[in-house]
Amino acid sequence: MLSVSDLDVFHGDAQALDGVALEIARGEIVAIVGANGAGKTSLIRTIAGMHKPSRGRIVFNGTEIGGRPSHQVCNLGIGQVAEGRQVFPTLSVMENLAMGALLPRARAAKARNLDRVFAMFPRLAERRSQAAGTLSGGEQQMLAIGRCLMGEPELVMFDEPSLGLAPAVVQAVLQTVADLNRDGLTCLLVEQNVAVSLKLAQRAYVLENGRITLTGRGDELLADDRVRQAYLGL
Ligand SMILES: Nc1ncnc2c1ncn2[C@@H]1O[C@H](COP(=O)(O)OP(=O)(O)O)[C@@H](O)[C@H]1O
Ligand SMILES: [Mg+2]
Repeated sequence: MLSVSDLDVFHGDAQALDGVALEIARGEIVAIVGANGAGKTSLIRTIAGMHKPSRGRIVFNGTEIGGRPSHQVCNLGIGQVAEGRQVFPTLSVMENLAMGALLPRARAAKARNLDRVFAMFPRLAERRSQAAGTLSGGEQQMLAIGRCLMGEPELVMFDEPSLGLAPAVVQAVLQTVADLNRDGLTCLLVEQNVAVSLKLAQRAYVLENGRITLTGRGDELLADDRVRQAYLGL
């Protein structure tokens, strides 16, 4: 579904990604593991069309998308749940969800997608008229995920979806990723909770200083001594 090759990305003079290559097949959860500053967000934002790569290819469903503007990338079916629960705080839950359905690909299916989001997150249905800024952190993350789903994505990239949430809510958010995947959504997952993300993912890549240094099945990496020492503190 997604194929990234030879990807170089710079922020000014500083290189954030160096020759990154990865593949995501339809139906997979693929995890990216790496320390702070490794380039995980830069990778997601580059795929999403928010940074221009200086080299390399990004091919989604057979279409080269590298360097295309983000609205085009979204409309091809790549959704993003950005770092830090990005909701519009003064808009209501309903208005936030409606923003997600503005994409041309999603307009016709708005009512069906809204039903689906409310079925998945009953709390959002209960609070549909409430300003998003008054929701709890966990509810805001559910709203951010719901808004993304309103755009009818085929691939969703989750950037640290459980960061800063209470432990019980962390489980709920990660369970949501698993449920969406079981229903057919392809997922790219960046998650500081490395053990959980490797358990959830069929395959994973380790990103260090902008380079992929290790890749394999989630359970293989979970058992790998280098991963255990560097990311699991074992
Ligand atoms: N907009 C930006 N401008 C300049 N440097 C950036 C920008 N975004 C990220 N960086 C730098 O790029 C590197 C990778 O950052 P990032 O992709 O956010 O990593 P991660 O998400 O893995 O923590 C870091 O050194 C960071 O300081
Ligand atoms: Mg990041």
